[in-house]
Amino acid sequence: MAGPLTDRHVVLGVTGSIASFKAVDLASKLVQAGALVDVIMTYGATQFVTPLAFRSITHREVVTDTYDVSSEFANEHVALARRADIVVIAPATVNCIAKLAVGLADDPLTTTVIASSAPLLVAPAMDADMYAHPATQENLEKLRQRGVTIAGPAPGRLASGLIGMGRLLEPVDLLGHISATLGRTGDLAGRTIVVSAGGTQEPIDPVRVITNHSSGKMGYALAEAARDRGARAVLVTAPTGLPDPPLVEVVPVQTAEQMADAVKREVAGADALIMAAAVADYRPASAADQKIKKSDDELTIELAKTTDILDTARGDFVRVGFAAESENLVANATDKVRRKSLDLIVANDITDADSGFGSDTNRVVLIDRELQVEELPLLTKYEVGQRILDRVRDLLSPSTT
Ligand code: PMT
Repeated sequence: MAGPLTDRHVVLGVTGSIASFKAVDLASKLVQAGALVDVIMTYGATQFVTPLAFRSITHREVVTDTYDVSSEFANEHVALARRADIVVIAPATVNCIAKLAVGLADDPLTTTVIASSAPLLVAPAMDADMYAHPATQENLEKLRQRGVTIAGPAPGRLASGLIGMGRLLEPVDLLGHISATLGRTGDLAGRTIVVSAGGTQEPIDPVRVITNHSSGKMGYALAEAARDRGARAVLVTAPTGLPDPPLVEVVPVQTAEQMADAVKREVAGADALIMAAAVADYRPASAADQKIKKSDDELTIELAKTTDILDTARGDFVRVGFAAESENLVANATDKVRRKSLDLIVANDITDADSGFGSDTNRVVLIDRELQVEELPLLTKYEVGQRILDRVRDLLSPSTT
């Protein structure tokens, strides 16, 4: 199944930092995501991890020496630069960043950067004082001005024992940054897409809530897919336990009413709203201030209707709803498209284990306002997100940005 990195050519530059060990994991995750990964190591990097480690993972030649005549690099030293869809340097030391800023080309990695027109992503890793040094900050700023993506660093415990800014981002976060950088000039560049996710929680008392089985996976995948096509992705999410997707603006909420307020705020000026959240239709009319004691045999909770967020969110933007159905999928979804006057509804069959709540895959039917029906095969939720965004793109009026 295809993802944002499938068949993409990634040149992974690794420089001499204790964080180089994380680059092995990054290479592995890139390969698992379907990327073709060519690793270039500086001399410093080879002092921390071996070329064999990368070779074993990528099954491709690892470049360490500009003048090794047995290597493809020595014979045609710009080949990797031309082949690259993206050049990623992770970890990038303070020395490497300084060399990039002045445009040096004194090793295979910096030579490749200078020779490549592919997007460049630099993930710094260094001690906090080195990161804070004005020279480093100036160099990073210079790279940013040139359109280079600077991913991280993160705060935390550093190899020196100091706590501060300088940790390499985790490989899973770097994957998000790489996907976003690859897609930054995509067909949704300049657009704002608001996505809702998760199951709202309606408090009964300070301990208990009414909720549902939504894991948030569908909404999160949609937001990532929008990000990977260049959009500003805003994710209004009920509690899910999922990590925040990198470079997605996350707006956490708990209840349907909080989600309604957040969506209303975020859709102002947005291009599309996609409601993948499973929003409670009813909430306790009033939540008890204290924990309800187990006294009587029966407990009755009065419920009040929540705001229909999708129905009330109207404006100059594309409106997409979901319909989670356990029977009469197309008929029930068609009814919702009409009643809520939607541009598109995603009818979600929740009867199979591989579709609907909690699964990594989904089986959906798209129904537009003309009631045209398109049945999609079983796809990953990310792929479903891409197919929905194809439709959103076609529905958007030409961008004035
Ligand atoms: O989160 P996952 O585990 O990945 O599961 C994904 C999903 C099954 C939750 C998702 O694909 C899905 O189908 N979401 C919509 C579920 C739902 O609540 O459907 P509905 O038929 O009850 O609501 C119809 C539409 O109105 C939905 O877009 C819903 O977000 C919206 N709605 C509903 C109630 C309400 N008060 N306000 C709303 O905006």
